[in-house]
Amino acid sequence: MTGPEAANRAFWDADADDYQATYGATLAAAPEAWGIWRIPEATVGALGPVTGLDVLEYGCGAAQLGLALAARGARVTGLDLSVAQLGHARRAAAAARQPLPLVAATATATPFADASFDLVVCDHGAMSFCDPERTVPECARLLRDGGRLVFSTGTQLCYLTWDATTGRQTRKLRAHWQPRWVVAADGGTVDVVWSHGEWIRALTAHAFTVDDLVELLAPPDARSTHDFAPAAWAQRWPAEEIWCATRRPRSAT
Ligand SMILES: C[S@@+](CC[C@H](N)C(=O)[O-])C[C@H]1O[C@@H](n2cnc3c(N)ncnc32)[C@H](O)[C@@H]1O
Repeated sequence: MTGPEAANRAFWDADADDYQATYGATLAAAPEAWGIWRIPEATVGALGPVTGLDVLEYGCGAAQLGLALAARGARVTGLDLSVAQLGHARRAAAAARQPLPLVAATATATPFADASFDLVVCDHGAMSFCDPERTVPECARLLRDGGRLVFSTGTQLCYLTWDATTGRQTRKLRAHWQPRWVVAADGGTVDVVWSHGEWIRALTAHAFTVDDLVELLAPPDARSTHDFAPAAWAQRWPAEEIWCATRRPRSAT
């Protein structure tokens, strides 16, 4: 592992305790929900029924989402490249008395056999931090025919209007649009902020059919402890989005 992925591991290993101290309770209070506003999956409907499915949470952190899906009858495996984050997941699974296999590996090179899963899911997980030219084919390899890839990420709009000089979200375009935009972030890590066209082309090229793109607005009563997209901004413009795609049958690719 080199470059941004190695930086990501170092960053998350160092930051895991602070991250979970800041956000863990909010995530655990609304585990089956999306993004910084914790919009319920029951409202969004991106995942559908999960009972009996083999599910991979792809960049699981403390696996709050994975544990909630396991409680609904899915067979969930959590994958993360940060051993410190996985320590939080292990303790959360033990506290919930929920068996949850956890695997330390980078999302671009996982140790699972082909066609191991029915659903690969992440909420601001590995899809947001790795090269989609590597994660998308890896997800296509891991999914069974007809399996689904569902992931949330930040929108280009949110990044385009971020003023890096003042550290504020604004209403003006502050950066040049780039189709395959990779934004330098804390500690040598990167945020992948590809355009919609690039995501559609990558997913389609690697055996997926795009089913939906759900743009998330902050609810009227939204509150968040994140410094990413203040509520007043995110009530007007979507700061987060959820991609939903289905793996095409291998016989058809
Ligand atoms: C913002 S957290 C989101 C996790 C969880 N959904 C949450 O809301 O806390 C991003 C997670 O992705 C993991 N991650 C980043 N790059 C990764 C990679 N290359 N492979 C696997 N996991 C990765 C990080 O270690 C971290 O746990």
